[in-house]
Amino acid sequence: MHYSRLAVPLVAVLALPALALPHSNPPGADNHTLNRDRADAVKAAFVHAWDGYKQYAFPHDELHPVSNGFSDSRNGWGASAVDAFSTACVMQLPDIVNTILDYIPTIDFDHTANGVSLFETTIRYMGGMLSGYDFLKGPLSNLAKNATAVDDLLKQATRLANNLAYAFDTPSGVPSNNLIFPSGTDSSTNNGIATIGTLVLEWTHLSDLTGNQTYAELSQKGESYLLAPQPASSEPWPGLIGTKVNLTTGQFEDAVGGWVGGDDSFYEYLIKMYVYDSTRFSIYKDRWMLAADSSIAHLASHPSTRPDIAFLAIYDGQERIFYSQHLACFDGGSFILGGLVLKEQKYVDFGIALVNGCHDTYASTATGIGPEVFQWVENSTAANDTKNPPPPADQQAFYKKSGFYITASDYVLRPEYLESVYYAYRATGDQMYRDWAWDAFVAINTTCAVGSGYAELKDVNVPGGGGYSDFMDSFFFAEVLKYAYLIHAPDNSWQVENNGVNQWVFNTEAHPFKVHGPPI
Ligand SMILES: *[C@@H]1O[C@H](CO)[C@@H](O)[C@H](O)[C@H]1NC(C)=O
Ligand SMILES: *[C@@H]1O[C@H](CO)[C@@H](O)[C@H](O)[C@H]1NC(C)=O
Ligand SMILES: *[C@@H]1O[C@H](CO)[C@@H](O)[C@H](O)[C@H]1NC(C)=O
Ligand SMILES: *[C@@H]1O[C@H](CO)[C@@H](O)[C@H](O)[C@H]1NC(C)=O
Ligand SMILES: *[C@@H]1O[C@H](CO)[C@@H](O)[C@H](O)[C@H]1NC(C)=O
Ligand SMILES: *[C@@H]1O[C@H](CO)[C@@H](O)[C@H](O)[C@H]1NC(C)=O
Ligand SMILES: *[C@@H]1O[C@H](CO)[C@@H](O)[C@H](O)[C@H]1NC(C)=O
Repeated sequence: MHYSRLAVPLVAVLALPALALPHSNPPGADNHTLNRDRADAVKAAFVHAWDGYKQYAFPHDELHPVSNGFSDSRNGWGASAVDAFSTACVMQLPDIVNTILDYIPTIDFDHTANGVSLFETTIRYMGGMLSGYDFLKGPLSNLAKNATAVDDLLKQATRLANNLAYAFDTPSGVPSNNLIFPSGTDSSTNNGIATIGTLVLEWTHLSDLTGNQTYAELSQKGESYLLAPQPASSEPWPGLIGTKVNLTTGQFEDAVGGWVGGDDSFYEYLIKMYVYDSTRFSIYKDRWMLAADSSIAHLASHPSTRPDIAFLAIYDGQERIFYSQHLACFDGGSFILGGLVLKEQKYVDFGIALVNGCHDTYASTATGIGPEVFQWVENSTAANDTKNPPPPADQQAFYKKSGFYITASDYVLRPEYLESVYYAYRATGDQMYRDWAWDAFVAINTTCAVGSGYAELKDVNVPGGGGYSDFMDSFFFAEVLKYAYLIHAPDNSWQVENNGVNQWVFNTEAHPFKVHGPPI
């Protein structure tokens, strides 16, 4: 995760003008028929990336596609294989599914040479195994050749959770994120809301599948400090909270936040827990609604040069900073999901406005791919405010046209834009969103393809992407290619439903879990 760093002094901000929102629900809103050519093209890209990984890197964590090398940045447990699992399931690729299914029971989750991130390990490994278990015990059981290995998926997820569980053994019950197996932690005295608040779905689902309630209780105890933040100053607007939480006291140490890296999936999981079980997680939904309403009222921002698009600002207390990230582009999808589930069109409409903003960050660059970090200028905040800096001289023309300027130009194979475009399409059935997703996929497939797979780009705003970083992160399999595929795939029980009644919910790594509660 990325943490926004805010160090400069702040001045007061002015009220924000109301948003002009586009309308959704065009004709054909239920049109989710298969687009076979596009679905097959995304599947071919997945098979290509998998073949490169399999040949040069498996069972290491990730492929270095340029050099045909590999690395083990996720403890050497085969992160790309486990992250690719649920995508191979929904694409219904039996050879790949069974290769990964045979592999997972052999992973030694008791040992690793490196520090273990509780958050990353939960969302990628536990998420991938529980999702594969749900699919192969459920609607895709025909894909699995070895029923014992399917049962082992849950055993391995349980073994991993048992090894991680000591993370919660702090004075407050807020988990430490950085573990040194088998029983140590690093020297951190706090943890962030994304890494604390993006465990409940996986750990609760594990409890529901195993009958051992300890996993749910541990993760929900950590979360409880985020649902009732203290001190009051750490909640600058209702539902919008700070980032860092003291492990000893459970008290917040700041009031810095937003929908960006370090905070992002805390908000995402508030509404997803309600989708998972509306009876147990109604309070989470209430907190999501508060955050959503406050974001519409206080964080929504129109760039000075592009009144027609909207982004969400970040904040330090009630001071806003006009800064966002590729990571934050999941926000539109979260608003759309909340709007569908709660039957509140205002959230769907606002989510679509945010998707439009992120679409602009893709459509404006030389590669057709959005940058890692960007900023813009707000008319309602003084031009000499250090929180509202003008674009650098060499980006003034770009800013005038595009409504944002680039402060980190790389693309590291992130999924959030495709994720939100997927939700926009599932909500509206508007074929335009399929075209947007297709354009992004073709741009990635063209620009990032190198050697034996797909690599990160150094500069999305020069033709060809400005060179590669020799790394293909596991979430390219789990998320980018899954959302790029599902938007063109036919209706299925695991797809997001436009009537708000979902049988599955996606974890933040895009691993679908079977929902537990009764239909909302
Ligand atoms: C439904 O989608 C298909 C495939 O994209 C398209 O050919 C068709 O025109 C769409 N129908 C409606 C009513 O939008
Ligand atoms: C099925 O999987 C189990 C472990 O998960 C393994 O021990 C067994 O050898 C596998 N069976 C076959 C036929 O591959
Ligand atoms: C339930 O999980 C906890 C946490 O890992 C573990 O300590 C406990 O032994 C488990 N209980 C049973 C009955 O397996
Ligand atoms: C966390 O809380 C403990 C106990 O009150 C305190 O000693 C420590 O200074 C706090 N840490 C920070 C960074 O505020
Ligand atoms: C910001 O101010 C400029 C100059 O007055 C104006 O042209 C532009 O429309 C304003 N932008 C917004 C978003 O209100
Ligand atoms: C910004 O400009 C206003 C008036 O133009 C002035 O009063 C204020 O002191 C300036 N602030 C800073 C931080 O320079
Ligand atoms: C994706 O890239 C592969 C390999 O370069 C190419 O063969 C394929 O045609 C591309 N697909 C699309 C839809 O551009």
